[in-house]
Amino acid sequence: MSSIAIVGAGPGLGAAVARRFGREGYDVALIARDRTRLDELVDGLAAEGITVRGFTADVRRPQELTKALEEIAATLGPVEVLQYSPVPHRDFMRPVLDTGHRDLVGPVEFSVYGPVAAVRQVLPGMRRLGRGTILLVNGGTAAVPHPDRAGTSIAFAAESAYGHLLHERLAGEGIHVAQLVIPGAIVPGHARRDPAVLARSLWGMHQDRHGFRHYADDLDS
Ligand SMILES: NC(=O)c1ccc[n+]([C@@H]2O[C@H](COP(=O)([O-])OP(=O)(O)OC[C@H]3O[C@@H](n4cnc5c(N)ncnc54)[C@H](OP(=O)(O)O)[C@@H]3O)[C@@H](O)[C@H]2O)c1
Repeated sequence: MSSIAIVGAGPGLGAAVARRFGREGYDVALIARDRTRLDELVDGLAAEGITVRGFTADVRRPQELTKALEEIAATLGPVEVLQYSPVPHRDFMRPVLDTGHRDLVGPVEFSVYGPVAAVRQVLPGMRRLGRGTILLVNGGTAAVPHPDRAGTSIAFAAESAYGHLLHERLAGEGIHVAQLVIPGAIVPGHARRDPAVLARSLWGMHQDRHGFRHYADDLDS
C-alpha cells in the first residue's frame, strides 16, 4: 500500500491533498502541532472513507518531526510521497529593514531545517522502494521576494534551492522532487487557487514527474 505524509496539514490544502491522494488509494499521514485540531481533521476525513492517521510534531523541532515520520513508517510502511506544506507563521513576514538576523531563525528553522530533516528521514525508505515523490509547497515569495515579507522570502529561496538540488540529484533514482508555488492566497471557490484545484495539481505533479517548479497561478495574482 502506498502512503503520503503531509507535513503541516490543516483544513485547507492539507485536507484537500489528503482527499485527493486518499481517493487514489493512498494511506494518509497528517502532521501538525495541535492534537485536538488534528483529531478533528482525521475524524472528518476518515468519515469520508479515507485511511488516515494524525501525528503531532512541530516542524521547527527536527527531532519531533523525525520521530513522527519514523512512527508513520512503522505504522503505514515507507513513505512514498512526502509533502512539506506547513502554513508559515505571521511573524516571519516583517519588512526587510525591520528584519534582523534573529528574526530569520524561525523562518530558516521552518523552511530549511524542517524540510531537510523530513527528507533525510524518508529518503532511505524511498530508495528501498525504488520510487518516491517529494512535494514542496510555497507562496509566491519563493519566486519573487516581497519587501514586507523578508523572513519567508529569504527562507523560501533557500528551501527552493534545496529542492532544486534534490530534484537534480534524485531524478535518476526514480525519486521526483517538485515545488508548487502558489502566488496570492488560497481561496475556496477560486478557479486556480481553490484547495481541491491545488490538490489536483499536486497529484498531477506526482503522476507526470517532470520539472521542478510549477506555478498554481500567475505571479502577479
Ligand atoms: N493559505 C494561503 O493563502 C497560502 C497562500 C500561498 C501558499 N500557501 C502554502 O500552502 C500551504 C498551506 O496550506 P493552507 O494555508 O491551506 O494550510 P492548511 O493545510 O489548512 O494548514 C497547514 C497547517 O500547518 C500547520 N503548521 C503550522 N506551523 C506548524 C509547525 N511549526 N509545525 C507543524 N505544523 C505546523 C498548522 O497546524 P497546527 O497549528 O496544528 O500546527 C496548519 O493547520 C503552505 O505550504 C503555504 O506556504 C498558502
